[in-house]
Amino acid sequence: MNIIFATGNKNKIAEANDLLGELGHTVQGLIIDGKKPNFIEPQSANLLEVALSKISQARSMIKNTDLEGSAILVEDSGLFIDSINNFPGVFSSFIHDSIGISGILKLLKGSINRDAEYRAVTILDLQGNTWTANGICRGKIAELEIGENGFGFDPIFIPCQGDGRTFSQMSQKEKSTLSHRSNSLRGLLESIKHPSK
Ligand code: IMP
Repeated sequence: MNIIFATGNKNKIAEANDLLGELGHTVQGLIIDGKKPNFIEPQSANLLEVALSKISQARSMIKNTDLEGSAILVEDSGLFIDSINNFPGVFSSFIHDSIGISGILKLLKGSINRDAEYRAVTILDLQGNTWTANGICRGKIAELEIGENGFGFDPIFIPCQGDGRTFSQMSQKEKSTLSHRSNSLRGLLESIKHPSK
């Protein structure tokens, strides 16, 4: 199946391609009139609500284009840190662009509990039928930024199921085996295979 991933984030597209490509699917970004989509993110404390808003915006964007009828994928995700009441959560993108990684490290200065998780909600729309799945990746916030790869908070996120490296120290493929996004996409594929569940 050819899936149009309605996101402007090339890392998210690469990750989806790593996972879904092995299963014989292709994933490409949504381009309308030669441009990446610009989503209006609703003010919401809930990843699912944001993802639902993205899917309805994506449907409107492809209406009356060659892409109408394509399988559309959307995702919303964030970093939730236990000791600071799950901050930055749904505001991760804004917080990353404002206080940045250094701001998060300052908030956690001296904190022994550095437990956190990435969460992702994915929604796949196949001609009006939708499937939704959640994915989580537990980890710890590092004391320092390490690594060059990935995006967002990857230089300070050490997944529990890894070997102690941050996501930024891993290749895209390594990250894809562990990430919240991949876990969510696996759930999505399972629910498509078993629609009664
Ligand atoms: P959105 O889902 O595009 O609204 O943004 C999610 C934000 O959460 C990103 O801008 C990052 O700051 C953070 N985030 C979500 N997933 C990841 C990830 O896999 N790596 C690093 N940061 C992430």
